[in-house]
Amino acid sequence: MVRIALPHDDVSPGTGCLPPRAWYATSDARALCLNGNWRFRLSPTADAEDDAFAADGYDADTDGRGAWGEIAVPGHWVLQGHGTPHYTNQLYPFPVDPPRVPTDNPTGDHLRVFDLPGDWPAAGTTVLRFDGVESCARVWLNGTGLGDFKGSRLPHEFDVGPLLRPGRNVLAVRVHQWSAGSYLEDQDQWWLPGVFRDVTLLHRPEGSAGDHFVHAAYDHRAGTGTLRVDADARGRVTVPELGVDMATGESATVPVEPWTAETPRLYDGVLATAGERVPLRIGFRTVAVEDGLIKVNGRPLLFRGVNRHEFHPETGRALDADTMRADVLLMKRHNINAVRTSHYPPHPAFLDLCDELGLWVVDECDLETHGFQAVGWRGNPVDDDRWTPALLDRAARMVERDKNHPSVVVWSLGNECGTGRGLTAMAEWIRARDDSRLLHYEGDRSCADTDLYSRMYADHAEVELIGRGEDEGPEARRRLPFVLCEYAHAMGNGPGGLTEYQRLFESYERLQGGFVWEWIDHGIAHPAYEYAYGGDFGEEPHDGNFVCDGLVLPDRTPSPGLLEYKKVIEPVRIDGDGHAGVVRITNLHDFATLGHLSFTWSYEADGVRVADGPLAVPALGPGEHAEAQLPPAPPHAPEAETGWTVRAVLAADTAWAERGHVVAWAQLPHEAGAVRPAARGASPVREDRRTTLGPAVFDDRGALLTLGDLRIADLRLDVWRAPTDNDNGMPWRPEPSLATRWRQLGLHRMQHRLDAVEPSEDALTVRTRVAPAASDLGLRAVYRWQSDGARLLLALEVEPEGEWTVPLPRLGIRFGLPGADGPVRWFGGGPGEAYPDTRAASMTGLWEADVDALQTPYVRPQENGARPDVRWARIGGLRIDSGHRPWLTARRWTTEELDAARHRADLVPGRTVWVNLDIGQHGIGTGSCGPGPLPPYQLHARPTRLDVTFSTAVTRGNGAARH
Ligand code: GAL
Repeated sequence: MVRIALPHDDVSPGTGCLPPRAWYATSDARALCLNGNWRFRLSPTADAEDDAFAADGYDADTDGRGAWGEIAVPGHWVLQGHGTPHYTNQLYPFPVDPPRVPTDNPTGDHLRVFDLPGDWPAAGTTVLRFDGVESCARVWLNGTGLGDFKGSRLPHEFDVGPLLRPGRNVLAVRVHQWSAGSYLEDQDQWWLPGVFRDVTLLHRPEGSAGDHFVHAAYDHRAGTGTLRVDADARGRVTVPELGVDMATGESATVPVEPWTAETPRLYDGVLATAGERVPLRIGFRTVAVEDGLIKVNGRPLLFRGVNRHEFHPETGRALDADTMRADVLLMKRHNINAVRTSHYPPHPAFLDLCDELGLWVVDECDLETHGFQAVGWRGNPVDDDRWTPALLDRAARMVERDKNHPSVVVWSLGNECGTGRGLTAMAEWIRARDDSRLLHYEGDRSCADTDLYSRMYADHAEVELIGRGEDEGPEARRRLPFVLCEYAHAMGNGPGGLTEYQRLFESYERLQGGFVWEWIDHGIAHPAYEYAYGGDFGEEPHDGNFVCDGLVLPDRTPSPGLLEYKKVIEPVRIDGDGHAGVVRITNLHDFATLGHLSFTWSYEADGVRVADGPLAVPALGPGEHAEAQLPPAPPHAPEAETGWTVRAVLAADTAWAERGHVVAWAQLPHEAGAVRPAARGASPVREDRRTTLGPAVFDDRGALLTLGDLRIADLRLDVWRAPTDNDNGMPWRPEPSLATRWRQLGLHRMQHRLDAVEPSEDALTVRTRVAPAASDLGLRAVYRWQSDGARLLLALEVEPEGEWTVPLPRLGIRFGLPGADGPVRWFGGGPGEAYPDTRAASMTGLWEADVDALQTPYVRPQENGARPDVRWARIGGLRIDSGHRPWLTARRWTTEELDAARHRADLVPGRTVWVNLDIGQHGIGTGSCGPGPLPPYQLHARPTRLDVTFSTAVTRGNGAARH
């Protein structure tokens, strides 16, 4: 019997690679980038024997056995027309039988012909570096095997000096989609095989350092930095700005400005060895746990973080420099100060950007074995000594590559691997190699190997207990600082509840913040669907749109969730008393003063700015607060609703945003304004089976048909919303989700019974009962219509019947405006969408947007686009006023169509604009992975009233801000 055992099928990390070393972008040594178009051939299975393509002299064009095409490197073949991507969250997409993988194992053969430049130095040697290949590679140069490796998001280098030829060289790389390494890479993301990061040839001059380690600590008491650069070659370290000129291995202590994410001060230096000058970007900082708190440079910090997977809708995990920079800039502009590189080390250039622009980094190893949970953790590699070399290899490749980045303050062993000896071995190795950073791993509640107590998706109540130090569990753990390495699952509409988490973080010093899950929706650009998610390529098993759970949409458009997060984590708190004209400013930075900000005030009357000016605020230190006085209220129209808006903006351009960029803001109401008197007096007139009331005409069933020239369609009570991902809950939980309970009750198909149409002297009263089939629960809805001749007043009273044990999705009216067009203008919350527990970023103002722009294009369509606190709105010739300040939603499709759609492209605009005015919306929460809405945001059936005045709109020029 022949056992088909292949190199990719064993637990070893690989053979033939050089020891890992520090990564740096450039030096004066020669480099040849091998990215570009490579020849490519895909086979359905991994045939170990057929390596003829790698032989010296092989000619792809004359090989009769298979057509060779081309592929872009870096890239994934499944995103370039060869095979298809596959998405799973926790499950392995193949049988769990470690370390073996399926016979059906898509295999990509890659060929790259390159010319070695004629002046390539003969002395020294040359290494070939792969920055990332999923899931494993075997490599040949000019027909000679160099070795093989696993560890997809880690660098691997081979010494190729002796094999290089002058002129033409041929690099052959065989990549298997599945390998033993896949068992260690069960992260919640698309499986995307390929050579997806750079491939480079690097000259290593004689006398150059193989590796170097920059140690740059900061003593906050003395204000000095201590620098030592270790290298495995003799050399000199110079930092001109600091007057440092010393040998490698020596140390110097000099006065410096420290590096923090808020003040990313870097000093340029050089490591000069006999053969090479390596640029150094040095940031001085010291990380420690002291008094049970994570401290940098002696001060505790608060992570306002986000989990970042590498993703681009067209190129998957192959990211270009601009995309990486765009991520960091977007984070900085949204007040994010920390990133967890979930769940693998990112492209190394990303960390350069974090050093330069300032983000705290939790650098996580490329390790997750989550799929073993489905088999009771039997055979889990992290608890099986045979795998320990592979785990240690991964730890070493991360630490050695990234050790010189000041932004990296925490090493994370990996994600969701259960527990085991292999993790301990990794932790011990990391501590021995680099004791200047903290260790993180969430999956072991004992915290035996870690410096932090870390959890994911704990609800507010539990987080508060932890903050108080009253959590159950080992005593030693209660002395550790706490972070939520994942919380606030940003899937679809949401996440809700951010404000309450932030208040907890700010109230208990042990709670040092968290990392929202996650940065970007992994929707893959698709010709029919716009963005594809799990299952859209016919793959099984899959986890649907659980892969679209980011704060930015796939094209990196900030979602309302990101704007909410930005507001909630503002590093400056602005509050006060608009009546007294007093503003209170608190500096919530951990390190920076407010010296980089300037403050402004503006005064708005009915949403229109009538005056503005600067506000003098001292350059408060971190944690300090002060009061500032607003000027006397400027003159404005009597009866207007007025208030102040105070903003903290960048006083000068920074590396990440321009002068004037708003960092924090608050609104302080001043005068409430007068409510328009209700419209009453006219009497209903019945004629020809129609009833006229002022400008309105009703049919004999009490249905509103027209208002002046405007047609109104199907105005009725509405309780249904297209369930959000958070309403849909966690599919793996046994209990039914909220959306399931709603559907079981039949809230998506309520029946509307007409009980009476009662004209009276000054009103038309329509009595209805709205209820789901097969239930005795119901809502009595009484519409009382009145008019003053010009306007139409609806007083709607809703009275629940029966014992409602499920909250309502929404409660209000909906109606259609056939043929309505033009922009929507409203005075209320805006410019973006908001829901009861996601409304921190909503600003009261006068706003204008087209109906299409009111929609938030979530990858999987769902409830979206509500605007809160609407005092009045104008839409398609209709004017709506309400002292009850309802929620306004307008769209060119019905809720039922929205509910039925699976992708954006399913939504086809109709000629009618459907408007919802809600007196209540159920909160959003983060139930797609975490807690649902907190009690104050739950919408329970109770007696409710909504007053709305309708009139035909008079076009008035006013200063609405366009969304
Ligand atoms: C966590 C996991 C993440 C992601 C998230 C849900 O359990 O660490 O990778 O799956 O849940 O989106």
